[in-house]
Amino acid sequence: MLIKLRQSSECNEADVTPESIYLSRRTFMSTAAAVMALSSVPVWAQSATGERYAEVEPGKAPSWLAERIAATKWNAVTVKGEALTPFQDATHYNNFYEFGADKSDPAANAGSLKTEPWSVVIDGEVGKPGRYALEDFLKPYQLEERIYRLRCVEAWSMVIPWIGFPIAALLNKVGPTSAAKYIRFETLKDPQSMPGQRSNFGLIDWPYVEGLRLDEAMHPLAILAVGMYGRELPNQNGAPLRLVVPWKYGFKSIKSIVRISLVSEQPQTTWQSIAAQEYGFYANVNPTVDHPRWSQARERRLPSGLFSPNVRETQMFNGYADEVANLYSDLDLRKNY
Ligand code: MTE
Repeated sequence: MLIKLRQSSECNEADVTPESIYLSRRTFMSTAAAVMALSSVPVWAQSATGERYAEVEPGKAPSWLAERIAATKWNAVTVKGEALTPFQDATHYNNFYEFGADKSDPAANAGSLKTEPWSVVIDGEVGKPGRYALEDFLKPYQLEERIYRLRCVEAWSMVIPWIGFPIAALLNKVGPTSAAKYIRFETLKDPQSMPGQRSNFGLIDWPYVEGLRLDEAMHPLAILAVGMYGRELPNQNGAPLRLVVPWKYGFKSIKSIVRISLVSEQPQTTWQSIAAQEYGFYANVNPTVDHPRWSQARERRLPSGLFSPNVRETQMFNGYADEVANLYSDLDLRKNY
């Protein structure tokens, strides 16, 4: 994010009026109880993966994951009237600094990441700590397709069909103690398979770390994803397990998670450590609070090019204000950017 920035002000054509998002209102009561309601959301469109995303490169998921994905509740949450970003763009224009600093580096280099077997540690202020094989970790949860906007702090955006489950479901299972106020996520640290961790991109103190307030993590829109476009996550998109928090800038959505900790203090996150005045803990998408070096009022929706920049207005909380604004009613969003 500190490099190769294309400023939104470089784009000169606001050619799209943002279309309103349709989210089932039933689905989004912002209480933990709503998570239970989510599981009863009707399946609007059931179809086999192949029919749904015929253009998408087939995955190589282990059989247990392929079976889980085939049983996904398709289209559980969607975005109305906005085209999905083509798979090719979503998988070849990435930020994953563990594999290099250019947008094309993750697709080129992330093949070295070994995602099977994979385990996740749950620790800290939690009733049921432990290390879980990913297969066991996922067992209790119904996978759902969630079609969300993704807005990067660099002022580009996409619409991606994720497959995952609400973090709230995990938290309800593992039981945070009363001391737990935040949730901290950590990416794999493995310089052998992650060339960016052994290169001279010395700004980052590995592993990549992110965090949420506990009530943010409990929100039904916040998910842990294991797939996208009807298949498992490609490595460059954060296989085998990543966070997706659609109302926050993309850097919050940490990839290739190996550790989830319940903690009492606000965790120090990677981008805060690098430039706290530019990247705050909250990182809520907010068109009225500019980045110190560029405007956040507009965004380039990928695919975008010189002759069709595909620029649109950025929406408060990335279009999810009705669902999440109440989380921040007591917060000055200028100070807590
Ligand atoms: N997670 C890790 N571990 N390392 C990273 O460099 N980049 C973040 C986020 N998660 C990043 C990460 C940023 S800046 C963005 S915008 C999104 O991942 C990009 O997700 P995508 O490549 O799937 O679009």
